[in-house]
Amino acid sequence: MLNAHITGWGMAVPERVMTNDDLSEFIETNDAWIRERTGIRERRVARETDFTSTLAVDASMRALKKANVRPTDLDLIICSTSTPEYLFPATACLIQDQLGATKAGAFDLLAACSGFIYALNMGAQAIRSGSVKTVLVIGSETLSRFVNWKDRNTCILFGDGAGAFILQADERPGGVLSAVMHSDGSGGDLLKLPSGGSRRPISETTYQDGEHYIQMDGREVFRFATRVMASATQEALTAAGLTVQDVRWIVPHQANVRIIEAAARGLKLPMDRFIVNLDRYGNTSTASIPIAMVEAAEAGKIQPGDKVVMVGFGAGLTWGALAAEWTGPLPSKGAARPERYRQLGRIRSWARRLIRFIEGLIYRREL
Ligand code: UT7
Repeated sequence: MLNAHITGWGMAVPERVMTNDDLSEFIETNDAWIRERTGIRERRVARETDFTSTLAVDASMRALKKANVRPTDLDLIICSTSTPEYLFPATACLIQDQLGATKAGAFDLLAACSGFIYALNMGAQAIRSGSVKTVLVIGSETLSRFVNWKDRNTCILFGDGAGAFILQADERPGGVLSAVMHSDGSGGDLLKLPSGGSRRPISETTYQDGEHYIQMDGREVFRFATRVMASATQEALTAAGLTVQDVRWIVPHQANVRIIEAAARGLKLPMDRFIVNLDRYGNTSTASIPIAMVEAAEAGKIQPGDKVVMVGFGAGLTWGALAAEWTGPLPSKGAARPERYRQLGRIRSWARRLIRFIEGLIYRREL
């Protein structure tokens, strides 16, 4: 049987740091409140030149390098995001082009902050079915572009960033072991971006009413999150035939340290079994779990053979958990040098546009 192994990982965050003190210069808040109620100290905010796709590409390049895989080896790219660059084309296609991943299918997946778990599960299922061998799974967000910087209920929470995993097919045991995915659309109003979709296209009215900004009922989302984090973790463990004692790390969605503490109480685990880095990045939505995993792996906290559970919740409402055994790079011949493919990819992309333009001229003359 083919298993889906996590063989490469990478992350990218914008350089610009926004501290709680920076926020308190333009909204009525303070560092003590934010730290006490959320655990967040600072977050990263995209510069004008950072986009959901460019952060994703930087994270993906690092993941490809780690796995020693070429962009042209990728069969599939799944980009989980709630902040796509456009409604269409999919941000995954922009990433495919920038990487020079000429063989890959590419699509976006939207399950908000649970998205990376959904995407990793979909990538693993595609590998298990035998239809693909190598998948790039990304969580990438530029939430700062949709945050109302005058709304202290939301703007203090969110940050920008991206994380990426390479999944590879291999017959040895390990990799993604189980996953559970849940949703409850009756709670859709609790966390939403009301305008910009087909129901409420952006108009003067939606703009004046601030419907192009994230809106959230924080208390209700908090209550929902504390209810589902421990139960989803247990479900994924049971599905994998594991107990909580078999697992080295729980990697939760990084929304609020109090939600993670509630999950720890629910699972009767000490906090030192949870990976927490929200103090430095805030809530990066679907990117938060891969960013936390990448930092932990790079710090040597997660080692090959370790069992981990990733667990998340978010808008939709959605929630889910995924159990995995960490693998690390598979043995491979030679250096893949993904950077070279990225440079060639740029030339290729430009050449394809030129050919399309010339073909268009010829076609027009023939008509
Ligand atoms: O990925 C999923 C995304 N969403 C979440 O995970 C959000 C989950 N919810 C939360 O994390 C929390 O509900 C918040 C951090 C959003 C809010 O914390 P809370 O402890 O639930 O605060 P609250 O909304 O109950 O507000 C308590 C007080 C209020 O004052 P009064 O009415 O008691 O006088 C707020 O006006 O704190 C006030 N407050 C603030 N004060 C300073 C609310 N926001 C702020 C702020 N700075 N930024």
